[in-house]
Amino acid sequence: MPRNRTYLMCPPEHYEVAYAINPWMDTSTPVDSELALKQWERLRETLSGLGHTVHVLAPAPYLPDMVYAANGALTVDGVAYGARFKYAQRTAEAAAHRAFYEAGGWEFRAPAQTNEGEGDFAYLPAAYGGLILAGYGFRTEPAAHAEAQDVLGRPVVSLRLVDPRFYHLDTALAPLDDRAVAYYPGAFSAASQRVLRQLFPDAVLADEADAYAFGLNLVSDGRNVVLNSEATGMARKVEAAGYAPVLVELSELKKGGGSVKCCVAELRPLRRG
Ligand code: ARG
Repeated sequence: MPRNRTYLMCPPEHYEVAYAINPWMDTSTPVDSELALKQWERLRETLSGLGHTVHVLAPAPYLPDMVYAANGALTVDGVAYGARFKYAQRTAEAAAHRAFYEAGGWEFRAPAQTNEGEGDFAYLPAAYGGLILAGYGFRTEPAAHAEAQDVLGRPVVSLRLVDPRFYHLDTALAPLDDRAVAYYPGAFSAASQRVLRQLFPDAVLADEADAYAFGLNLVSDGRNVVLNSEATGMARKVEAAGYAPVLVELSELKKGGGSVKCCVAELRPLRRG
């Protein structure tokens, strides 16, 4: 069943590929800024059309990756654990996200450890009573996993990412609802694959082509699964698992190494009762 969600997005007004900090970024490839904005707008409309609330974070000049709003924090039950970016080019984004949470009455917790928010953290409220999955190997430091557990009071399971194309957890694994996930095993170390099999024996398994088409970089409300239009194989897999795929085109945002999920942070306010 779908559940109404609240999301945070940031329009790609200053988006460009001005530096390369992941294998998808190539500074010699031109970006169509107008098309990027149009595609982002479509994504926002798609999410509001599904009944969700979308907050918009004001974009800042000279922060071209700010469109990837998922990286700004991880929120659980009204608490926002802030980001601390690995690369200097993105450092200043953290303060913009912090200001958003502080103005919105969230309990904001500043991080001491390097972590890129929902890029490397996923939250499953109904798995094992509330479970955080966390990636490391490229961006987020394992020390941030322990910090997230201390701040948010949920068990954190550390998963090692091994393929540089899938440098954030959200390029390799996605929650499909409050307890189920889809993932591409090849993005994880053998030991982490074993951990995932143990925790999620019924997971939807993606293959390399699905992951390469950013098919795991999806946003699901528990029924509707919004994903990149190139990920047709992944769309069929989630449909076979009982979900409703919704395809959106994000070719321009892919040039920065991101797709649907990267552009969308989920805001999880305190749940009562
Ligand atoms: N260019 C950005 C970076 O390398 C892309 C971030 C993608 N975001 C994500 N949640 N995976 O940091």
